[in-house]
Amino acid sequence: MKVLFVCLGNICRSPMAEAMFYQLLKDNALTEEVEVASKATSSEEEGNRPHPGTQKILATYHLDDRDHRSTPIRRQDFFDYDLIIGMDDMNMRHLRAIAPKETKDKIFAINDLTPGHQGEPIPDPWYTQRFDDTYNSLRRALPHWLDYVKEHK
Ligand code: 4NP
Repeated sequence: MKVLFVCLGNICRSPMAEAMFYQLLKDNALTEEVEVASKATSSEEEGNRPHPGTQKILATYHLDDRDHRSTPIRRQDFFDYDLIIGMDDMNMRHLRAIAPKETKDKIFAINDLTPGHQGEPIPDPWYTQRFDDTYNSLRRALPHWLDYVKEHK
């Protein structure tokens, strides 16, 4: 099973989701069976390291960014990954627009499984600077994706 988190720049939200989900996989001894990565819908930040705000959160919670660099999503990714998870409505529109037709079922929104929060986006901290809000929203959403991969791996 291969999981891909996606946001606009791949420097704020999706690298944070990747690092947090990787920790959940480690805690559950699933890193051999489940891979996680993150990518961007834009090439704006290609090659760049996570935003200092995301790096600060990762340091605070002792999370490993595994030398992440922003990478734009490519057509082949829709075939290579099993779950492709966007952070907000713009990400979802982009993903649905560029996904090859036979891969569209793999695309989900981050809160699709969060009881009481379905349809809620993860606001972009690049604009809000609220990296702690991003962390808290992801912390609520990601355990549901962990349960999902445990059932589907
Ligand atoms: P992210 O935040 O999508 O959470 O990584 C952004 C980072 C960079 C830009 C936009 C959003 N940008 O326009 O460069």
